[in-house]
Amino acid sequence: MTTSPLAQLAEQTDELLATIAAFESLDALRDAEPFVVGKRSILSTLQKSLGALEPEARRDAGAQLQGARRTVETALEARRHELARAARAQALEADRLDLGDVVVGAVSVPIGVGHSSLVASTQRQLEDVFVAMGFTVSDGPEVESDWYNFEALNIPPAHPARGLWDTFYVELGEPETVVLRTHTSPTQIHLMENAVATNALPVHSVMPGRCYRRDTPDARHLATFHQIEGLVVDRGITFADLAGVIETFTRAYFGPDVESRLRPAYFPFTEPSAEFEVTCTICRGEGCRTCSNTGWIELGGCGMLDPAVLEAVGIDGDEWSGFAFGFGIDRCAQMRHQIADMRALIENDVRFLRQFS
Ligand code: PHE
Repeated sequence: MTTSPLAQLAEQTDELLATIAAFESLDALRDAEPFVVGKRSILSTLQKSLGALEPEARRDAGAQLQGARRTVETALEARRHELARAARAQALEADRLDLGDVVVGAVSVPIGVGHSSLVASTQRQLEDVFVAMGFTVSDGPEVESDWYNFEALNIPPAHPARGLWDTFYVELGEPETVVLRTHTSPTQIHLMENAVATNALPVHSVMPGRCYRRDTPDARHLATFHQIEGLVVDRGITFADLAGVIETFTRAYFGPDVESRLRPAYFPFTEPSAEFEVTCTICRGEGCRTCSNTGWIELGGCGMLDPAVLEAVGIDGDEWSGFAFGFGIDRCAQMRHQIADMRALIENDVRFLRQFS
């Protein structure tokens, strides 16, 4: 009796399965495939040898061999799948770009994620305080005509008050008719004009934004700075409302340690007018270089809307009254964070900037 050609099939199958499991790469698997399941495999050799068997034995052996082949083919496909998945994961890992690092020469230097500047976050906090008090937030242009920046605010050409604002002029149209706004007050005019045109009085709004003056930068001044303007036009508004808003704001933004005071002042567009000041937080009121030894820092100006301004925008001063204020956002940041010299805000020294992330 001759031994069946399939006598070793179980061992041979196990051997093939072990070979498959040992493939470490898709290339190795592809190269070996003809020897595992293809024409040059033991399975094909066995298949040929079945021809010598009796028909019945051949049928049984054929079915047995078919079963072994299916097992081997299934294992091969599973391994191919596994290796393909691993290769893809590896390619992704290799391609990963770490945006937290920047390579300088051969050295990988971690860079931090950026954050808002101190002025931007201060502006947002101030807006939050006023929104909580019932104000809306509005926006206005940084390039203004002389009319919005001066005339409608009761500052006629050649009026000495123009000397209060050292103006940058834009070379556009007639000389000295287009300016970089010297304060946010022109936005009041836009707002009141719109309110009149759309029948939208009363107005309770704040208007933050960038302003420009031909100032030489010093501990308290920048040539490019930020203000937040406030405007209320309603019925029966008095100076007490204005003082209350200023007081509520300073308490909410600076906390109980900072005192505020109003001092009589002059602005062409408000009457009466006042300057409002807060305790210098650098010296706690003792007097220092930042506050020029006064113990107080001027934040801005305010006052009741001058009838001439209401008239310029077509609001009936018998029915409506109101107040306005405008103060420095950079100054607020300076006092809140005890920054002795405001120029630090624009020097872009990362050691300074990082403190306010
Ligand atoms: N616009 C004035 C300034 O920049 C401040 C101010 C605003 C005064 C509103 C009164 C009312 O000096």
